[in-house]
Amino acid sequence: MNMEITLLGVCGSPVKEGNTEAFLHEALREAGAQPGVSTSEILLARKKIGDCRHCNWCLVKQEKGRFCAIEDDMTEIYPRLIEADALLLSTPTYAGRLSGYMATFMDRWRALVLGKHYRGALEGKVGGAMTVAWLRNAGPETALLSVVTALLMWGVVVVTPGESGCQFGAVGLSSSGGTGRFDPKDRLGVLQDEAGLKSARALARRMVRMSRTLKAGRQALGQSG
Ligand SMILES: Cc1cc2nc3c(=O)[nH]c(=O)nc-3n(C[C@H](O)[C@H](O)[C@H](O)COP(=O)(O)O)c2cc1C
Repeated sequence: MNMEITLLGVCGSPVKEGNTEAFLHEALREAGAQPGVSTSEILLARKKIGDCRHCNWCLVKQEKGRFCAIEDDMTEIYPRLIEADALLLSTPTYAGRLSGYMATFMDRWRALVLGKHYRGALEGKVGGAMTVAWLRNAGPETALLSVVTALLMWGVVVVTPGESGCQFGAVGLSSSGGTGRFDPKDRLGVLQDEAGLKSARALARRMVRMSRTLKAGRQALGQSG
């Protein structure tokens, strides 16, 4: 029985080595410390990914190895999404919702949900959402909800940090105490947010646990994966 779990983390901030990336790394470290778990990451700021054009090419013309009409960095990302047991999405809170980078990325998943050849490829995967906001009460929960809604829409089994976090995912705050106070010496304020980091670690552990449970169940039922 193959019980190796692969967890793919995705950072949706345009800022390289910023708070959203650091927050994701905290969760990936925790997941990678669990036995039998391998982790990898995609930093959307380092990728060229175009918007879904709703051309419906994937619905009618998609074939094995050709996912989408648009040839860009998603071409090498699609197989990684298919291979992963768990998808952990970390977005900055922008106007109380996910970032444009993350929205564009998730729209392109349509090719793995409704595509002619890869229809249903995301079904039964485990998903989790994390966000970093500047302020405690200026939108992290709705930002998580915007990610979680898309995950549910695309057939992913959503896991949350449970008692260690907000009900929709992990929240980190990048200003001091979430008050909006800026400390110029501290570019990665989220690393001072102990409660936030705890929620990131809890989310990672719960995603691994759910991935194992689902994988064992599928194998016991003789289903692929
Ligand atoms: C366009 C834009 C919109 C933002 N909207 C919010 C917001 O609604 N609430 C909030 O708390 N912070 C907001 N922020 C601040 C970021 O969420 C915050 O600085 C976060 O730490 C950015 O993470 P990064 O370091 O990975 O870029 C916004 C920032 C930008 C650029």
